[in-house]
Amino acid sequence: MKNKNIVLIGFMGTGKTVTARALSRKIKWEMLDLDAEIEKAEKKSIAQIFSDHGEPYFRRSERRELKKALKKKNCVVSTGGGIVLNPLNRRDLKKSSTVICLTATLQTILKRTGTNKKRPLLNKKNPFQTAQNILKLRRPLYRETADFFVPTTGDTAAETAEKILKKLKWKL
Ligand code: S3P
Repeated sequence: MKNKNIVLIGFMGTGKTVTARALSRKIKWEMLDLDAEIEKAEKKSIAQIFSDHGEPYFRRSERRELKKALKKKNCVVSTGGGIVLNPLNRRDLKKSSTVICLTATLQTILKRTGTNKKRPLLNKKNPFQTAQNILKLRRPLYRETADFFVPTTGDTAAETAEKILKKLKWKL
């Protein structure tokens, strides 16, 4: 297990990036944030990529950056919430990595995403209903891809990282 990458998946606002950072510090692994890699590669913000080129273009860039990330070793990777939409991503993740899905209540998700501009998909009139609809479609995909789930509501990133380590029975 130990030389496989650890990949965090899960809905927007479940704390993937902050948890990946906390976890990578604890186990002294590299950390990679796929959304940040996409922004670097495209030289644009996520919101700008969506508005200039549309979602399918973003998904292609996301696929490319995931493939690059999975070539690494001993890396904690945080992904965007839609990474599981592409069946090839799901296949590659399951094959190559320990995949952990973070979860949170819808209220927490909306609180955490409310102030952030990188979620054009939730930038709608009724974000609660929108999030609920997207979550319903994605839940089976997260279930199919993850090795296990970790709830994050009410926990800090450090606490979530501890929970993950316990589940992995990691000896530091
Ligand atoms: C998306 C989630 C975002 C980002 C993009 C699309 C999604 O990442 O990749 O806005 O489809 O769920 P976070 O999950 O880090 O918010």
